This record gives sequence, C-alpha cells and structure tokens, in this order.
Amino acid sequence: MNTQHERISILGLGAMGRALASALLAAGRDVTVWNRTPGKAGELVARGAREASSVEEAIEAGDLTVACLLNDASVRETLAPAVPKLAGGTLVNLTSGSVRQARELAGWLEGQGVRLLSGGIMAVPPTVGTAGAFILYSGARDLFDRVAPVLGPIGRPHWVGEDPGFAALYDMAALSGMYGMSAGADHAVTLVHREGGDVETFKREVLQPWMEQMLPFMVGGADVTAFVPEEFNPAMQATGLENILSASEEAGVPGDLAGHLRSSLWRMRRAVAG
Ligand SMILES: NC(=O)c1ccc[n+]([C@@H]2O[C@H](COP(=O)([O-])OP(=O)(O)OC[C@H]3O[C@@H](n4cnc5c(N)ncnc54)[C@H](OP(=O)(O)O)[C@@H]3O)[C@@H](O)[C@H]2O)c1
Repeated sequence: MNTQHERISILGLGAMGRALASALLAAGRDVTVWNRTPGKAGELVARGAREASSVEEAIEAGDLTVACLLNDASVRETLAPAVPKLAGGTLVNLTSGSVRQARELAGWLEGQGVRLLSGGIMAVPPTVGTAGAFILYSGARDLFDRVAPVLGPIGRPHWVGEDPGFAALYDMAALSGMYGMSAGADHAVTLVHREGGDVETFKREVLQPWMEQMLPFMVGGADVTAFVPEEFNPAMQATGLENILSASEEAGVPGDLAGHLRSSLWRMRRAVAG
C-alpha cells in the first residue's frame, strides 16, 4: 500500500495524541481522530483531520488504528466493545504500559484476529516529529516494515524485536534512567538554593555541562550486577558520596531527594568490603 495514502485513525487526543495527529497532518497523511471526551479535535479538524463520533467509526475510517490513551486499562476499555471492527486489521499501541500488559494485549488481540505492533514514544509532545524523536516498536517484523514509513513523521521508527513486550521494556528502562538523572538534578538545585546559590546560573554554567560531560560514563558504565570496578576507586567514591550527603544535611535538603545518593553509597561500601 502507498504510504502516503494509508489512512490513519488515532484513538486518544490527550497532549500526546494531539501531537501525533498534528505531525501526521503536517506530513500530508489522511488522519481520523477520536477522543472519549469530545471537543479536543477542533484545531486538527481545521487542518484537515476527520473527527469520528465513535471508536467503531474511527476504526472503520482507517487502514491503521493507533491508540494513544492514558494506560493499558483505558486501551482495554476503549477497544473491548469495538474490537470486532478491528478483526483482520492492525493496532499500533503507543500507550505506555508494562511489559506484561503489552504481551497480554497482543495475546488478547491475536485471539480476535487483530495484529498488534507495540510502541514506546521516546519524545514529549513538543518534540514529536522533530529530529531527536524516535519511536520504539516491537512485534512482527513485517508489520513494523509496513507501519514504519506510514508513522515515520512522528519520529524515527526503531524496531526492538518480535516480543510485543520489548517496546515497553526499553521504554520503561530508558525512562527509569531519565528519572534517576532528574532526581539527581532536583537534589542538586535544591542544595544550591538552600545554601544561597543562584540556581539558574548553576544549572546553565555548571550542572548541564557537567552532566553532558559525564553522560557517556554513566550510560557506558552501567552494569546489571551493580559491580564497581576497582579502577573506579570505590573508597574514594564512597567518601565523595558521604561528602555530598553531609553537605545536603547541613543545607536541610529533604532526605527523600537523596535516595539515589544513598543507594550509590551502599554500592560503593559493598565494593570496598569486597
Ligand atoms: N505526554 C508525554 O510527554 C508522553 C511521552 C511519552 C509517552 N506518553 C504516553 O502517551 C500516552 C498518552 O499520554 P498523554 O500525554 O496524551 O496523556 P493525557 O494528556 O493525560 O491524555 C490521556 C488520554 O487518554 C484518554 N483516556 C483516559 N482514560 C480513558 C478511558 N478510560 N477511556 C478512553 N480514553 C481514556 C483521555 O481522554 P479524555 O480526554 O476523554 O480524558 C485522553 O485522550 C500515555 O500512555 C503516556 O504515557 C506521553
């Protein structure tokens, strides 16, 4: 089928669903949208999208149905009454969820004659369709090969395997890394603020360049056994972490912001103990 002419139906017009529809419309795709609560499609309709008044109508209007809803439960709830309409067709699920939820959804849909391509959106609404955005997909390779050029405008398609749970797996794992960094950044600016430093200057001139310099070491050095190599000098690292924790206590930084430091200190002490 000609990529340009493949009709796409999007279920869900939250912040992300609207961004996906917008990027697809900008690329000239044929887009139909549906949302549980009406009234969110106005701008998209003005740009050429069709608004379906029911899930069934949306599914019928598309060659490809894309779900971008809140969570797995909302996907199940939305599809349950309409799934016979999807029989023989394809669902691309860009709703975040767990690995098991993705696998179970694939099994449930397969039993109804529907093929599932699972997805994980590695973008936020303002970056959808930009050069940095990429989308993880998992499921049958032939399905990915068909879907990738159709949904290419939302972000670079990246297939991570046949297992329908793998898109969710890599998505959740990558988010875990991001939230860890985010927790570190929150702790850092709180410490600076509490001791009277200028947070904006610190962020711009110190934190960002420091984190950029260290990023390859953080990612490259990550280890599944939490093993700390000797050349990493765990005793020095443990002392360093104790210093940061002392500085934080002196400044009255709330203890719940320091969980990542305590877990790193525990690893270093364990490495020192051998
Ligand atoms: N926003 C991001 O930065 C981002 C980034 C990556 C991935 N994602 C993922 O993208 C998905 C959508 O996120 P979002 O930012 O668009 O969330 P959102 O703005 O909160 O929108 C949630 C959407 O789900 C719908 N919904 C919720 N419960 C429903 C139900 N029981 N039945 C039918 N529809 C239901 C809502 O419809 P109503 O309007 O009727 O409430 C709305 O369309 C999530 O899985 C999220 O994890 C988001």
